[in-house]
Amino acid sequence: MAKLVIDANRKLSKINKEIQGQFSEHLGRCIYEGLYVGENSDIPNVNGMRTDVVEALKNIKVPVLRWPGGCFADEYHWKDGIGPKESRKKMINTNWGGVVEDNSFGTHEFFELCRQIGCETYINGNMGSGTVQEMSEWVEYMTFDGVSPMADLRAENGHEKPWTVDFFGIGNENWGCGGNMNPEFYGNMYRRYQTFVRDYDGNKKIRKIACGANSDDYEWTQEVMKACFRRISPQQHGMMDGLSLHYYTVPETWDHKGSATEFAEKDWYKTMKKTMYMEELIRRHSAIMDQYDPDKKVGMIVDEWGTWYDVEPGTNPGFLYQQNTMRDALVAGINLNLFNKHSDRVKMANIAQMVNVLQSMILTEGEKMIKTPTYHVFDLYQVHQENDLLASSLETEQVGLEDEYMVPNLTESVSVDANGVLHITMTNVDLEKAYPVEAVLLGKEAGEIKAEIVTGHMQDKNTFEEPETVGVQGFDGVQATKEGISFTIPACSVLHIAVK
Ligand code: AHR
Repeated sequence: MAKLVIDANRKLSKINKEIQGQFSEHLGRCIYEGLYVGENSDIPNVNGMRTDVVEALKNIKVPVLRWPGGCFADEYHWKDGIGPKESRKKMINTNWGGVVEDNSFGTHEFFELCRQIGCETYINGNMGSGTVQEMSEWVEYMTFDGVSPMADLRAENGHEKPWTVDFFGIGNENWGCGGNMNPEFYGNMYRRYQTFVRDYDGNKKIRKIACGANSDDYEWTQEVMKACFRRISPQQHGMMDGLSLHYYTVPETWDHKGSATEFAEKDWYKTMKKTMYMEELIRRHSAIMDQYDPDKKVGMIVDEWGTWYDVEPGTNPGFLYQQNTMRDALVAGINLNLFNKHSDRVKMANIAQMVNVLQSMILTEGEKMIKTPTYHVFDLYQVHQENDLLASSLETEQVGLEDEYMVPNLTESVSVDANGVLHITMTNVDLEKAYPVEAVLLGKEAGEIKAEIVTGHMQDKNTFEEPETVGVQGFDGVQATKEGISFTIPACSVLHIAVK
């Protein structure tokens, strides 16, 4: 019997809705076909955006969308993607498959997509190969309401009123594809570039995000924080609102990552172990940030995370198209629990990527669309958005196959919403065993209980032929007890329990 203790009187931090954020890059079939099919397509669309995909994304309340990359961002010249489509410049997408990018999806289209989804906007600027002027003019183009060269150009292109840029990233992976910089150099460049990302709207500040570390590169975090916090007032907190972190769950090696669908139990536990490493990364990077920013004013922005496997056989290796199984459902549930539990520091996270690339919510094939197991986990977890995280602790045991691949059987996070309803999300990675859980609720009496679950066998997936193998199902195995509630979490599952 696993004991779960929840203290309803101890609210720890706010779970920002942005923790469930998404990422869409000009990569493979993410933007083109996945999200945008053009106004003249036979696939039903509104202003070029696929109706079926937008509907599905609205249903999981996508809070924020990062665009245009990724590595693509540091080669993207925004002026190529505005104005009449027929005269937009074509370019080679050097990072992703060497295909021709016709720039038919640009700034105006991105804001239209976000308008339709109803989400906030996170634009990633080009520091790697772009100038300060280019970045600064993009911000002016998007956000200035008045007479200026860029605001006039925007109006000429059909959008008189400015848009809202909620978040702006200064470069992407500048330690790698974004310019191969050293951290101190990047820190100095960050200081310079961000100076010209102006807040034209006095009422709405653009939140600036600095490029953070790759996985366990703690030196990067240390040096960037040091450079950015040097000789400025504490109120300026490093001239940044966020520092990113990128970490992917790669079951094997970068050369041979492993199949998305054909895997053994050993691979399952190995994947879970690698995913749970996220906890250590958050703790250690956060401890470095604490040295400069003890009040946690700078958010950790995990703006790329998720599984990365070998591409589906027969598909373009540069397109990063992969299937999605119950293994991905567990990876999503574990990470989202982790982000919730560290929401004092983790202020946003963006799974890579939203459609047809890496650990997607949605896969498309021509006019067909399916929702992945990961989508259904995001569906379960949307109840946490903007809630207060509650103090909780859970007894776990180690499960797995060999010493190397042992992991805790269960993870959890608990929040309370504005109406006082408690939301418990829990994962069980054990492929065979269900676990009885006795939950003690301190400061709360269990009223009406509702629960739902995503569960199945480890390789279960949704396909275009069988789109509903994995989905959200009702779960009626939760009982009220004298002290709280009790239930048995099935093997290989992600569970949500709401307690009124
Ligand atoms: O998400 C795919 C790629 O992974 C991104 O373009 C890059 O930032 C990261 O290396």
